[in-house]
Amino acid sequence: MLKGKHIILGITGGIAAYKSVQLLRLLVKSGAEVQVVITPAGKEFITPVTLSALSGKPVISEFFTANTGQWNSHVDIGLWADLMVIAPATASTIAKMATGVADNMLVTTYLSAKAPVFVAPAMDLDMMAHPTTTRNLQQLRADGVHVIESATGELASHLVGKGRMAEPQEIHDAIAAFFASRDDSALAGRRMLVTAGPTYEKIDPVRFIGNYSTGKMGYAIADEAARRGMKVTVVSGPVSVVPQEPGVEVIRVESAREMLAECRRLFPEQDVAVMCAAVADYAPAETADRKIKREHDDVPVIRLVKNPDIAAALGAEKKPGQRLIGFALETDNALANAREKLSRKNLDMIILNSLADPGAGFGTDTNKVTVIRADGAAEELPLMPKRDVAAAILDRLSL
Ligand code: C5P
Repeated sequence: MLKGKHIILGITGGIAAYKSVQLLRLLVKSGAEVQVVITPAGKEFITPVTLSALSGKPVISEFFTANTGQWNSHVDIGLWADLMVIAPATASTIAKMATGVADNMLVTTYLSAKAPVFVAPAMDLDMMAHPTTTRNLQQLRADGVHVIESATGELASHLVGKGRMAEPQEIHDAIAAFFASRDDSALAGRRMLVTAGPTYEKIDPVRFIGNYSTGKMGYAIADEAARRGMKVTVVSGPVSVVPQEPGVEVIRVESAREMLAECRRLFPEQDVAVMCAAVADYAPAETADRKIKREHDDVPVIRLVKNPDIAAALGAEKKPGQRLIGFALETDNALANAREKLSRKNLDMIILNSLADPGAGFGTDTNKVTVIRADGAAEELPLMPKRDVAAAILDRLSL
């Protein structure tokens, strides 16, 4: 899984830096190309000579190489990487990452990197338990960073508690598992349609009925599918997010009716359709062609009509072999309601969003979902970055 992968190994100034040597050896042994980036404090704990000998590449620490004046481009390294892992990650580096204090080569590289990032925190138990560290780690998780939890045990201070860096083998395996889940040849070349974002239902030329959907979940699914080699089209309501992966086609629409028309046109050639849009249930019965003025004494009444159910329409047109996935946002009787929608709309899977958990739902970068399959079996997943939720959904898709 790691063969030929480009990995940045970031090392910061903690006692656990001695274990980074072992991690480096394991990664190289598995066939990865590793570029070590070390903070100035890291060099107090482990010498660059050892690291460059094992990685076969000069270790990068400063913005400029002192004797040659050569500039080390954090942008180039960031783009080169398939993955970045910072092990050990000290409280200080975690804080800098959480707030964007780019005063060394490592944090600058982190800010430039487009690749997934893992951190393996290591620090004394009190630093680990401090609310600041908890808050910073929470921020990193919300930013999509994967945190490899520290273990509880004896620390360098001889105190016993949580703060030991995860073992090198464990970090290596977490990285390998991550690549394994993302190298999905079964999906490569297949076609996926995703609806995303809100719909706007026009009242007059300047007003609409809409909702708070940002499209983040739908675009995360589109990005993850494209990364796995799928040909992806997003039929998108008005949003400001854009695809992060190359090759994702976006068709912009406004109303539910426009979204339905595009989806029906595209659906026959799709292998999978994921209904992630927050489609307005109702639209104004009439749209005024001029701005409705305030001068009337009477308060205007907007009569509403029902919008089409796009998921149900595609469910009715679904051919054998096609897969249809829906989302559900429920407040009470969540599981039962989601199962009812799954069968009524003829879906193969429905993703139940939690409304109760902080960090889940509209506008956040994380989500907590329960995956319900056609036979009704439900699987609750932990709070994760939306991109990981997308990966988990695709992992459960059998084509
Ligand atoms: O019925 P409800 O709106 O709760 O169903 C949610 C699911 O149905 C989501 O997958 C959503 O994208 C889809 N849906 C749709 N068209 C609608 C309403 C919902 O495609 N008009």
